[in-house]
Amino acid sequence: MYFKFCLVVLFILVSLVFGESTNPVAESTVPIVVDNITSSDERYVRHEAEYAKLQARLDSGGKALDGNHPRQRLLTALYGFSRYKDLHITEVQRWRSLYKNVSKKQKGTIESAVKYTSKLNTVEHLIEANDQLAVEIVQTGLHFYGIAQSEFDKFVADQERQGKKGDRTSVAQAMKHFVRDWAEEGQEERDESFTCILNQLSDMERSATSPLHVLVPGGGVGRLAHEIARLDGFDVTMNEWSMYMNLVYRQLTQKAMTSNSKSYHPWIDWWSHHLTTSDMQRSVSFPDSDIDASSVLLVEGDFTAVFNSEGGNYDVIVTLFFIDTARNLLTYLETIHRLLRPGGTWLNLGPLLYGTAPFLQLSLDEIISLAEAVGFRFEDTGDFCGDLSVDGLLVRGKDVQYGRNVRGLNKNGYLAQSWRAVKI
Ligand SMILES: C[S@@+](CC[C@H](N)C(=O)[O-])C[C@H]1O[C@@H](n2cnc3c(N)ncnc32)[C@H](O)[C@@H]1O
Repeated sequence: MYFKFCLVVLFILVSLVFGESTNPVAESTVPIVVDNITSSDERYVRHEAEYAKLQARLDSGGKALDGNHPRQRLLTALYGFSRYKDLHITEVQRWRSLYKNVSKKQKGTIESAVKYTSKLNTVEHLIEANDQLAVEIVQTGLHFYGIAQSEFDKFVADQERQGKKGDRTSVAQAMKHFVRDWAEEGQEERDESFTCILNQLSDMERSATSPLHVLVPGGGVGRLAHEIARLDGFDVTMNEWSMYMNLVYRQLTQKAMTSNSKSYHPWIDWWSHHLTTSDMQRSVSFPDSDIDASSVLLVEGDFTAVFNSEGGNYDVIVTLFFIDTARNLLTYLETIHRLLRPGGTWLNLGPLLYGTAPFLQLSLDEIISLAEAVGFRFEDTGDFCGDLSVDGLLVRGKDVQYGRNVRGLNKNGYLAQSWRAVKI
């Protein structure tokens, strides 16, 4: 049976279970209303239970928060979005002052030929337009997570007092995922990566009454997870650590959004690689299709910790552009192995672009050896995942883009490696 539900009921439940004693903020939170979840009973229960767990994780217990506490990370991300306009206008101001180095005579030529000052002015206006979306993300986030305005205002005042400006890069990157995941412009990029994964999943035996349980760790803002859910016969859980990504995902899923009803100007913050100025300033609409919020369960938090109480629950784990985010790659492999049922399948596609401080950095052949040592057996994925990468290894490589501006002059691409490995 399908029905619309609202999380007011859930909020009351959460308050009863957690609210009174431990969380001084909970008393002042607003009721949470989610009007975009059309769900079966079973899905409703899963979302409800996960929301209660999320609130428990966010609970500060009345103590001071350290930087890794989920509530602190959430407030920091909210602060970043709330500073969207200031952070971006500051950058335009920097460009304006750099332009002052150009001589008066040269400026005359530039202004009459290309109206550079007017371009700077226009971009400032477009930043203001983008800021409306950033403000909506903050409002939706406060509402969804049950953060009182007064708590957020206090956090903002503290950040300002400490001279913290907000993380412009994390905000911009998370918002660019509106394009990668949910705009028509991202379709080609998605097809390059998703086809390999979705083809393999489509071939798996399953039924509506006995769905396969799929986990997508590091799911970003959710398109792959939702595409898997659209295949039917899959019960999909997504996991994501970044609160910037999670706020964007909540924005996409908490309000009923008709197709292409929203837009923003994703490419105005980097002036390199543009064919034309109108390309740079163009708006991109999203979402390119309806989003069934209930079809995917988002479990927020660190993949290697948040599923600690689970083991062997998943038939399939899908990692897309994910494994190289590990600080400890072996912990990722062990976690994937532990969460799969015996005979369960791990599908991977992505580059090996290690972050800033990984504990170990392995090449492809070493990853395969380590995965085999953990207890995986590799199988061939099929040539829709590209060509075999290394003699003797069942791994294929495929050119894929990530976060590309389709009208830009640069290509942000990788020879992504894909494999299918079965838990022995
Ligand atoms: C390169 S992005 C890829 C996102 C998405 N899979 C895609 O292809 O668009 C990697 C994602 O993994 C997330 N991530 C990194 N470490 C994580 C962890 N320990 N647990 C869960 N997610 C994590 C990051 O926040 C980021 O969103």
